[in-house]
Amino acid sequence: MSHWASILSTAAKVNLLILVVSAVFSWSSLSDRVPEFALTKLEESDIKDDSRKEPITEDDADPEDLEVFYPTHQWQTIRPGQAVPAGSHVRLNLQTGDREAKLPDSENGKSDTREERRKRLGKVDVDSNAFTSQELKKVLAKMKESEKAERKAHEEEVRKKFRPIEQLKEEFEKLNVKMETDYEIMVKLIGKFNSSASTLDEKVAALYDLEYYVHQVDNAKDFLSMGGLQLMINGLNSTEAVLKEHAAFVLGAALSSNPKVQIEAIEGGALQKLLVILATEQPLAVKKKALFALSSMLRHFPYAQQQFLKLGGLQVLRSLFRQKGVETLHVRVVTLLYDLIVEKMLLEDSQHGDQMEEKIQQYRQVKLVPAVVEQDWCVVVSNLLAMPEHDTREKVLKTVGVLMAFCKERYRGDQALSTTLSLLRSEYEELAAEEQREGDKDGYFKELLGSVNTIIQELR
Ligand SMILES: *[C@@H]1O[C@H](CO)[C@@H](O)[C@H](O)[C@H]1NC(C)=O
Ligand SMILES: *[C@@H]1O[C@H](CO)[C@@H](O)[C@H](O)[C@H]1NC(C)=O
Repeated sequence: MSHWASILSTAAKVNLLILVVSAVFSWSSLSDRVPEFALTKLEESDIKDDSRKEPITEDDADPEDLEVFYPTHQWQTIRPGQAVPAGSHVRLNLQTGDREAKLPDSENGKSDTREERRKRLGKVDVDSNAFTSQELKKVLAKMKESEKAERKAHEEEVRKKFRPIEQLKEEFEKLNVKMETDYEIMVKLIGKFNSSASTLDEKVAALYDLEYYVHQVDNAKDFLSMGGLQLMINGLNSTEAVLKEHAAFVLGAALSSNPKVQIEAIEGGALQKLLVILATEQPLAVKKKALFALSSMLRHFPYAQQQFLKLGGLQVLRSLFRQKGVETLHVRVVTLLYDLIVEKMLLEDSQHGDQMEEKIQQYRQVKLVPAVVEQDWCVVVSNLLAMPEHDTREKVLKTVGVLMAFCKERYRGDQALSTTLSLLRSEYEELAAEEQREGDKDGYFKELLGSVNTIIQELR
């Protein structure tokens, strides 16, 4: 009671109303983030702070799945789920409630400075596609903001429907879902997924919601102790593609930067199953999530990298370049490769004390580069320079850059590559000049031009 009293005294009525609306409106839809989601947001910090921010984590919502929005100099409406490239201006149109974005005006186009580009270039990973995680967070935060605005529009309606705040409290208590902890929610979701009484849709919805919770390191550990991780691993060879897909999604989220989960997952056989998915005929959506989970499994975990090589994982990834219909995975594979190579290099270059020695020993046993050269990844990677998207090329150029030390001879004899590089050089010379005319001295295209020129020079 006193808890409620304190909440009610500090809560803006609006906040409670918004929460009620979100609970009521999402109640009927299983594929929404379940009502529990909206209600667990009813934590004190949320209620006190009107400008509350959702705790959006680095790999939130598998940004791979965000569709890309291509901004112009005009404001354009962003469709739900679309992600906006770094540096775009985003606003909420208060009349329509739509989110809109455009390219920055050149006089204040400083939002895309060389420094920001640098940060972006410094951090390429499979999951962030063309965007820094910062950018994605911002975009996601915008989306939430506009959701909030939409809810506000319903406020009046709800004010009529619901009785005074005192009765609201009772409504909440009747719903009996207040103040559930993440732990309790995960137990329920796992139960839902694991129950033979659940329909396929209910299982998928449970996985979809679990993915949200396991992002948090502590939740992921709880998930482990509840037996959830093993259920996901078993789900990887479900006969239902949609369950495989979502199990891999949850797994990838739980694995991200979580050594404890990484160890358990590899011991539970996750690596083999992910490779089976990638090596066999599967819907693209399933492969995509399997690659996401594989990447989360391998990053910063040299033991898994070693096992991956032993199991022929690199050949499996290589085979994706011979399959039809999975072209969208190519850049992600190359980015993963880049990350793994650079991760090892950085460690070898770093000043390290004794405690790093063991890690370095482990990395020494990851013979990634020899396998890369042997399987002729040099050309697989450089062929991707022919892709039309600048962001793709940016990643590929970086990868060619790190492969240069091992692939130089191969590249020197590659006539197609030298043609491609010349074309890229002319294209970026032009774009960089235009950029400069618009007042951006250290722009994106200049940077790309620099990468192209460096490669051309090294091949002389
Ligand atoms: C899943 O269900 C099976 C069979 O009912 C049960 O034995 C198992 O403990 C459940 N697993 C989890 C993690 O709840
Ligand atoms: C998945 O694989 C495990 C072990 O490899 C096996 O026990 C289980 O029956 C398989 N499940 C399905 C649905 O094939």
